[in-house]
Amino acid sequence: MPEMRILMAHMGKPDQCGIEGYERNGGYQAIRKAIPQIAPENLIELVKQSGLRGRGGAGFPTGMKWGFAPKDPALPKYLVCNCDESEPGTFKDRLLIEHDPHQLIEGMILASYAIGARYAFLYCRGEFFEGIVKLSAAVEQAKKRGFLGRNIFGSDFSLEIVVHPGAGAYIAGEETALLNSLEGYRATPRLKPPFPAVAGLYGKPTIINNVETLCNVVHIVNHGAEWFQKIGKQKNSGTKIFQVSGHIQRPGCYEFPLGIPLREVLDVAGGMFPGRKFKACYPGGSSCALLTERDLDLSMDFETLAARKSALGTASIIVMDDSADMVKVANRLMQFYQNESCGKCTPCREGTRWVVQILTRIEAGKGTIWDMEVIEKVCNNMEHNSFCPLAVGAAPPVVSACKEFKSEFEAYIRKNPNSEKLPEMPISYPYS
Ligand SMILES: Cc1cc2nc3c(=O)[nH]c(=O)nc-3n(C[C@H](O)[C@H](O)[C@H](O)COP(=O)(O)O)c2cc1C
Ligand code: SF4
Repeated sequence: MPEMRILMAHMGKPDQCGIEGYERNGGYQAIRKAIPQIAPENLIELVKQSGLRGRGGAGFPTGMKWGFAPKDPALPKYLVCNCDESEPGTFKDRLLIEHDPHQLIEGMILASYAIGARYAFLYCRGEFFEGIVKLSAAVEQAKKRGFLGRNIFGSDFSLEIVVHPGAGAYIAGEETALLNSLEGYRATPRLKPPFPAVAGLYGKPTIINNVETLCNVVHIVNHGAEWFQKIGKQKNSGTKIFQVSGHIQRPGCYEFPLGIPLREVLDVAGGMFPGRKFKACYPGGSSCALLTERDLDLSMDFETLAARKSALGTASIIVMDDSADMVKVANRLMQFYQNESCGKCTPCREGTRWVVQILTRIEAGKGTIWDMEVIEKVCNNMEHNSFCPLAVGAAPPVVSACKEFKSEFEAYIRKNPNSEKLPEMPISYPYS
């Protein structure tokens, strides 16, 4: 299947980042069409009918989320765009902001109009320096054109967008931790409920959406809900930007309708290196269970991958060929989660550290016959008893590697002549 570029249609055009170029290529037509002709509640209805689901990982229906914002116009409400993008293998939002920043600004204007927000915040990963510069310039340009500011198109809708550099942590992408960070506090998750749509930024109702989600809204307004629904498959409408990385010949971003088979994405991305065989991949970023060769024909959509006990997540496909050492992969990923754990709750703070210690011991040829079982138990505890989804996502990549490639772990353990004796503890952590 060839690529279907909607969000990426103008990638690489040198003038697309400037407002003239964006408008020349059809930009800012959606806000002209919507404000004030389409009533905010009808815009929410349009997005509901399109079937758009959040592209930040969980796939929550966007129109339904917008519908949770209180209708009282006197009540302050905020829109927050989540551009923290810090999960291993994920790099689509960076592409969108660096190559087409106005597309996102237009999506944010539409979303703010729909929910009745007067202030919108764009929380952008601090390391995305180029993106922050481009987004800030795009906001200024849009202001000068009258697309932002007071009484847009003579309506009673006014909007300011604030571009806010992030604080450099994966957990800052979790929506409530992000709100804490925006308010100037440490990025640690908040208890839910109340959900942000009820009490979010500064305690006010807040809708949080991903960059790719908001960019889709522009095209839904331009072409209609029915057009959008026809792309992809049932319950999975629209395109998705698949990010392919790892052992693949042409790593990068590829836009396809949702539901494309995994094999086809990998083929378009150039396939395996000569002489190498596909071994496994994480299909939705690093926080999901891995897939193996028998899954190559699976449809890349939310339901199919959930039924396979993995996840579409952000559709970031991390590919491993037969040269990959799964013990090292599992250890490296758990080190990431250990480093990124905010430390607020014990199962995650201690669990990630324990699993790293055990995997490091196995890798050093000092594993014991009990290690696999202990890893599974600690991961199970993390997955079911932690405060936020970071730890829920930390367990499956490791547990699935242990399950699917058990023999590789056992081969390491057999290297230890004393594998049936109690281990030396603690094993020092070599990567700090
Ligand atoms: C640890 C962690 C990190 C996350 N990072 C991001 C991120 O960088 N960008 C993002 O859009 N969502 C991220 N999410 C999901 C957000 O909490 C939230 O669900 C999302 O921004 C909602 O947007 P959507 O409905 O448009 O998908 C993260 C979640 C967790 C648990
Ligand atoms: S699960 Fe991890 S990241 Fe989430 S609150 Fe607990 S310690 Fe922090």
